[in-house]
Amino acid sequence: MKTLSGHLVKADLDKILFDSEQIATRVGALAQEISRDLDELPADGEIVLVSILTGSLIFIADLIRRLPQKLRIELVTVKSYPGRATTSRGAQLIDGIDESIEGKHVLIVDDILDSGATLNLIRAELSRRNPASLRACVLLRKQRPSAMATTCEYIGFDIPDVFVVGYGLDFNNYYRNLPVIGTLREEAM
Ligand code: IMP
Ligand code: MG
Repeated sequence: MKTLSGHLVKADLDKILFDSEQIATRVGALAQEISRDLDELPADGEIVLVSILTGSLIFIADLIRRLPQKLRIELVTVKSYPGRATTSRGAQLIDGIDESIEGKHVLIVDDILDSGATLNLIRAELSRRNPASLRACVLLRKQRPSAMATTCEYIGFDIPDVFVVGYGLDFNNYYRNLPVIGTLREEAM
């Protein structure tokens, strides 16, 4: 019988940019920085982390376990890379947040800052709802002008302008389960 044993995501990788240990170390340092800043905030506001799905799911899971503050999580779904696309097609909010964020301290969490469309969309959407403070955190930022020009308070790694997968980031909804971040072999795309 033919089995699935040979279908391993790692086989499709070209180059590894960050291994699990490098990611864990950086996420830990980011969490410390965020945590210190959260501690400085006035005590009357609640903390809400807004996670942009689907790409940020692994990052947020690791990040929140390193934040000791009392906080809430809201999930928003944004579509920008439909199907096999490897360039952004403009961000579209699919499912928004239900709870009021008025007067609360909001931290947007996303996997990667590319064109900036997603972050700009969510920031505009959330700032209309009068949060007490609004910041953003991404694990990766591509070194391209539109990304560098987008406001983002916390950045894990700056990377070259290449398409990457792993640690939540996908191609055609595959490779999110890779524990490392890397580029794909051309044959895999
Ligand atoms: P932006 O709106 O162009 O900044 O793109 C942000 C969104 O596109 C991210 O939340 C990712 O889901 C997706 N994205 C951007 N670059 C990549 C990539 O290199 N690999 C996988 N997904 C990406
Ligand atoms: Mg995304």
